[in-house]
Amino acid sequence: MANISITRVTDSRMSEVDFEHLGFGKVFSDHMFVSDYKDGQWQNHRIVPVEKMSMHPANMTLHYGQSIFEGLKASMGKDGTPILFRADKNIERLNLSAIRMCMPEFPFDVLMEGMKKLILIDKAWIPTAPGSSLYLRPFMFATDEYLGVAASTTYRLIVLASPSGVYYSKPVKLLAEDHYVRAVKGGVGEAKTAGNYAASLYPAKLAKQKGFDQILWLDGIYNKYVQEVGTMNIFFVLKDRVITPAEDGAILKGVTRNSIIQILRSRGIQVEEKLISIDEILDEYAKGNLVEMFGAGTAAVVTNVQSMTYKDKTITFAEDAWSLSTDLKNTINGLRTGEVEDTYLFTIRVEEPVQVG
Ligand code: COI
Repeated sequence: MANISITRVTDSRMSEVDFEHLGFGKVFSDHMFVSDYKDGQWQNHRIVPVEKMSMHPANMTLHYGQSIFEGLKASMGKDGTPILFRADKNIERLNLSAIRMCMPEFPFDVLMEGMKKLILIDKAWIPTAPGSSLYLRPFMFATDEYLGVAASTTYRLIVLASPSGVYYSKPVKLLAEDHYVRAVKGGVGEAKTAGNYAASLYPAKLAKQKGFDQILWLDGIYNKYVQEVGTMNIFFVLKDRVITPAEDGAILKGVTRNSIIQILRSRGIQVEEKLISIDEILDEYAKGNLVEMFGAGTAAVVTNVQSMTYKDKTITFAEDAWSLSTDLKNTINGLRTGEVEDTYLFTIRVEEPVQVG
């Protein structure tokens, strides 16, 4: 068992929180898990009250962006036991991002235990309204103070816990972007690193000005092959199968994406992970084969697509077409709360003997 020290708050902030209007990522629980990397190892694992950090202006993250993160959810099970969804996959992905960004991997068992302890200590912060959850945000960043371009030699890892509601409260209108790109093969598209999100903001702002909610990114070489939405992976429901872009190093290895593929295949629905051109999508729609489109991500869960525009063409999906996505959303949310039996072994019940000090 990892050595994790615990310092509790003297007064909880919980009574100040309006749990009816949480929004996403705006409210933070009382405690956070923190660990520091120096002298070649992660050390001083601790759970402490959430507080502001002071930072030297030469902190390397501010200059060169060595910063990675994850997002995962804990929900309150029907029997009052918190349930963590696929934390193993998120820890694995954090470490893949760490390798790509030249940062030290974090010990799997320590992070798993740290998150479980944090959930148990802040158990009362897990919201119970439908679709809400305690969103965990593990993130790692450089802490050296140096202006030369190099990998930092020290880092900090923090896990924040944020009681949150739904990320997208309505179906989205997508713009398939034909000028700006999110990622290229061999780049950092697969890593969950801050810069990928920063790079998306300006094109997203332009898309919003044109009335769209999100961008559907196309590949960075041909500007033709569908990648992902940035906050979620993308699925296309055809009459006889479901297709989704294959993991090619440029798209995020989505945990919800992976869960959906497993769920669909277990139901005998054919899922193809492949190269998908935007023309193929328009063509399948024109032939009447494309019946539904949805996004999948931890925060977004399963989000219906209302329309997708590429250049001068728009395809639309009426609400009565959203049957598979609605079913998948209910399944994932049900697995998270224990209302749907977990035959996939996606969930982890967070209960003793995790000692909380
Ligand atoms: C998540 O789904 O957890 C994400 O990281 C997407 C987003 C909120 C950045």
